[in-house]
Amino acid sequence: MKNRNFIVQGDICWSKDPQTLETRAGAFLVCAGGKSAGVFSRLPEQYAAFPLIDYSGRLIIPGLADLHAHAPQFAFRGLGMDLELLDWLEIRAFPEEAKYRDLQYARRAYGLLAGHLKRGPNTRLVIFATVHTPATLLLMDLLEESGLVSLAGKVNMDRNSPDILREASAAASLAETEEWLDACFSRNNGSGYKNTAPILTPRFIPSCSDELMRGLGELRRKYRLPVQSHLSENKKEIEWVRELCPESESYGAAYDRFGLFGGESPAAPVVMAHCVWSGEKEITLMAGRGVFAAHCPQSNTNLSSGIAPVRRFLEAGVPAGLGSDVAGGAHSSIFRAMVDAIQVSKLRRPLLGLDEKALSLEEAFYLGTAGGGAFFERCGMGRSGSFDPGCDFDALVIDDTDIAAPFELSLRDRLERTVYLSGERHIAAKYARGRKIETAG
Ligand code: GUN
Ligand code: FE
Repeated sequence: MKNRNFIVQGDICWSKDPQTLETRAGAFLVCAGGKSAGVFSRLPEQYAAFPLIDYSGRLIIPGLADLHAHAPQFAFRGLGMDLELLDWLEIRAFPEEAKYRDLQYARRAYGLLAGHLKRGPNTRLVIFATVHTPATLLLMDLLEESGLVSLAGKVNMDRNSPDILREASAAASLAETEEWLDACFSRNNGSGYKNTAPILTPRFIPSCSDELMRGLGELRRKYRLPVQSHLSENKKEIEWVRELCPESESYGAAYDRFGLFGGESPAAPVVMAHCVWSGEKEITLMAGRGVFAAHCPQSNTNLSSGIAPVRRFLEAGVPAGLGSDVAGGAHSSIFRAMVDAIQVSKLRRPLLGLDEKALSLEEAFYLGTAGGGAFFERCGMGRSGSFDPGCDFDALVIDDTDIAAPFELSLRDRLERTVYLSGERHIAAKYARGRKIETAG
């Protein structure tokens, strides 16, 4: 299977658009050179020579995309969940992240993370590392080895954070960032990583001086890099940003001043986590600039941040996907994020008195597959999250026999049960870009 030409047969489900789920029982999905050549009820003659893998009776769905997570926070997931954002950062996140100066510690922690990610249902991720270049490169090496497809970032922070973590100055942070980028580009004798790419990662406005942000804007243009950060997550944080940037019309505009909020030609892909309190002006700016929203419902609940206006993102044309935000979120699985997204959306109407429809299964599944997968396409890393011809062949094979029912279930019903009930043990096989990911161990 070296040239990644093969066929899988099974019960296939994927999103056509946010409202439409496609389902084909007993169908064939063709992988040609690591990309989907389409789903067929009858196998076209031209693929007759491809090897066939029989997954009859199993569900075959696109791999899931996690648009926002923190690698160094994985170690303390499920701890310290009784704090709000700014205290949680001071008390939990910053002291833990400071430990990644020690490469031995990073090796242990990131090794556990890589094993966990291989076993889970996500095939793509956009992830924060820490300020430390050696540990960030180690994380990227492990992600590359895993076969998953990822964008990972060395974090920039030069203010409002403890001495043990804060970078010495804007100039030092920028020089370190260029060193990290050089090291990324020279991996594999100068050809760079295959499935892993760097993404600029200013932590959030409060952690980054104007000088640092200006320099990152220049690096973005120089290297045509994508950007990830946090936006409008928590009310106290937003008030702080207002004090720090009184001239900016919105939190998003505070990034935009430095060319870190998309929009230029060539358009820079940007993903902003949370956007819980984004108002109409910010939403309009995001839609106009093609800035992605990474909706992180579990984190927004754990840290009492609020419920993001995902329905508005969909209506306004803001590109959106789902994020685990480990460790604001305790669970890395984007199946879990789909359930959380549906559940919190059901609270907006009764709690906020809004006449707003909750998210459907179809919409949540779309966000966690094709919605998030579109960010990778924007970054030149192949489209994922769908089986349309030309998409990268990222697929999960789910054995749902032990969550069967004594009555007949449609494929759509089996998918819904999988989203709500499945765990690692239900993943019978997992592929990214047509390569099988080792899920055991
Ligand atoms: N804002 C700045 N840093 C962080 C972080 O690590 N997690 C979350 N949820 N929000 C942030
Ligand atoms: Fe985060």
